[in-house]
Amino acid sequence: TTFSTSVLICTAGEAAVGKSSVVLRFVSNEFQANKEPTIGAAFLTQKCRLEDRVLRYEIWDTAGQERFHSLAPMYYRNAQAAVVVYDVTKATSLEKAKSWVKELQRQANPNIVIALAGNKVDLVQTSASSSGAPLSSESEDEADDATATPGETPGASEPESLRQVPREEAQAYATEAGLLFFETSAKTGEGIVEIFTEIAKKIPIE
Ligand code: GTP
Ligand code: MG
Repeated sequence: TTFSTSVLICTAGEAAVGKSSVVLRFVSNEFQANKEPTIGAAFLTQKCRLEDRVLRYEIWDTAGQERFHSLAPMYYRNAQAAVVVYDVTKATSLEKAKSWVKELQRQANPNIVIALAGNKVDLVQTSASSSGAPLSSESEDEADDATATPGETPGASEPESLRQVPREEAQAYATEAGLLFFETSAKTGEGIVEIFTEIAKKIPIE
């Protein structure tokens, strides 16, 4: 006999951070460069095998636009897990993610498993850590050295990085708040399967 477990998940986070893109990557292994904002919410499912279990993920992907905020409780009320997404290139989106975490910890199922995902990490990766990112020319590198900003982390190799949220800062917050933490890219697929696998590992088998 194979045991089948349903895993009911919702997303939360500021508009345009990539909630729907993360879910689309997970359920269809696709990415859309100009994905339209979610209206209300969308329901998606995916089956996965994890060790001796078959998991049926049932995902409510919520809309981040403020006008839909009041609908959120309908989607997180019964959720076993939440994926709270922010955009690593937008500091205010981490603040929004923190306020979602607070709301979930107060209002959702007290055993809810919350995963924090710092998305769009493809936009902040340099040639050393990513494949196929455009390289700056040698001469531009020299110009960067001349204009390096004092106070930047010594040894940081992202002179033109769009990154606004340091990984360590988000990781420290996640640890303190008791969340799973991942940096992800719906565009490249980095970290996406890991979110959903780690969530499933934390959900007890009925
Ligand atoms: P709402 O439904 O309005 O709450 O937005 P959302 O959080 O679902 O964002 P959505 O998935 O619609 O993505 C917003 C935009 O960001 C789209 O144009 C996506 O293509 C883009 N995007 C999403 N994820 C990534 C990513 O990992 N990297 C890059 N470069 N772009 C991304
Ligand atoms: Mg969406």
